[in-house]
Amino acid sequence: MSSLEKIKFVESISSTNTYLKENYFHLENMFSICSKHQTNGKGRLGRTWNDDDDLLMSILLKDELQLEKIEEISLLICASIFKALSEKISGLKIKWPNDILLNGKKICGILLESVVSDKLECLVIGFGINVNTKKFPDDLKNKATSLLLETNHSYNIKELAEKIYSQFTFDYEDYKKGKKDYLKVCKENSCLLDKEITYLNQGVLVNAKVIDILSNGHILLESDGKQYEKSSGEITLHYSYYSNIQND
Ligand code: BTN
Repeated sequence: MSSLEKIKFVESISSTNTYLKENYFHLENMFSICSKHQTNGKGRLGRTWNDDDDLLMSILLKDELQLEKIEEISLLICASIFKALSEKISGLKIKWPNDILLNGKKICGILLESVVSDKLECLVIGFGINVNTKKFPDDLKNKATSLLLETNHSYNIKELAEKIYSQFTFDYEDYKKGKKDYLKVCKENSCLLDKEITYLNQGVLVNAKVIDILSNGHILLESDGKQYEKSSGEITLHYSYYSNIQND
């Protein structure tokens, strides 16, 4: 089976992440499913993910898995998507831990999920790219955008999916050999490095400066003269952020 035959394309599905979590046992490592529409798309923090002729894709990882590597994999897929999209589109930025922005607005969100029994059975890497969406609801229109809205072109979803899949396959092999190129990509194209951010920590808003993105996928922050590390699970970036990014 060639690598591209590992992508199953469907018009609509409940959720590509849910599909892989329910069927991982029978599917091969690196199997992927891509849909243009989801009836129950899932976002981070229990949110829903809406779509309109977009690229909704999940990739199944079943090999050499360790729970503590999930945040590295999150940066890895960010870097792969960034590189694949950058071939055609300029103005992209990576927003730690796992969003990609175009002209300061969110174009892609990533949701990693796992199936755990007595061990980590599989990792599902899901991402949604706003490709051909023409209009966003009022609560999202200042924060989210699509490739179509920003570039005035419509895009072939299958072609884009294959490009991202090939890039990730290549990058994942490098990652398994210990290469850290993904970290360089995430740092060089970060919209947060050296910026002041506000994050929510156990219900309290905290201001800090982003000093570094670390190889374990954590972020290094500084506030009140002290530096400290945070994982993506520990903090939620505050939404006012998007307006800061647009002022860059
Ligand atoms: C986010 O909230 O930013 C993450 C959104 C992730 C959405 C994608 S779309 C494909 C995959 N299947 C899902 O149900 N969710 C992810």
